[in-house]
Amino acid sequence: MTQSLRISIAAATLALAGCGGGDAPQPPSVQFPQNANLWAALGGDAAAPAAVRKVVADAVNGLLADPMEAPYFSKVVANTSGDSSQHDTPARLEACLTLQFSALLGGPYSYPGPVSVPQDTANPQPEMCQDMASAHADVGVPGCVFDQFITDLSSVLSTDLMASGFTQAQVGGVLGQIAPTLVGLKTTIVSPQPTYFAPNSAASCAP
Ligand code: HEM
Repeated sequence: MTQSLRISIAAATLALAGCGGGDAPQPPSVQFPQNANLWAALGGDAAAPAAVRKVVADAVNGLLADPMEAPYFSKVVANTSGDSSQHDTPARLEACLTLQFSALLGGPYSYPGPVSVPQDTANPQPEMCQDMASAHADVGVPGCVFDQFITDLSSVLSTDLMASGFTQAQVGGVLGQIAPTLVGLKTTIVSPQPTYFAPNSAASCAP
């Protein structure tokens, strides 16, 4: 091997190492590493995904049964087209919420990110979830409806966690750890021009 060939090979090896070795798998992105204790308490990668899916399914059932929140989801509920390009299908809403809560509860995920929604037969997979401002831009969420959503979500989390063995104090710890992030989304999700559906009204429900 000539000296110049040896130098070329060494340079190519260094270049490959510098860009991550080509096809080397990337480590999962963890958006909330400070909440890794929550993911571990939920059973880690083996059990936490199913626990989060149950919390999200129960939360969606709860908000669709709540007269203050349900009207805002009428376009989602009516979307049986298999196409989420204009409004979410119910399956996409659950998939994106599951990704978001998996990230928030300390799992190896980041939101917004990609999700697979086999029920969305019209959309290429995976689909990219939207950021909170884009997702809620035309929903018209009033302030009191956002507050109700947080109250209902806390209650679902509490019920589901206690059913899987968490104590009241541990549930309080989980809520205390994630509530600031959720409540911090209020200014992004609440609309400056809210839409009111009965039983909400401008008089009864502050923006
Ligand atoms: C902290 C509170 C909330 C969080 C974390 C949240 C999260 C999400 C997520 C992840 C999506 C799916 C985005 C996508 O498909 O790309 C979504 C969509 C949606 N959210 Fe929220 N949301 C919150 C509050 C609310 C409230 C209070 C309402 C109204 C009562 C609401 C109504 C909707 C609707 C209607 C959609 C579907 C929009 C469409 O595709 O037309 N959200 N939300």
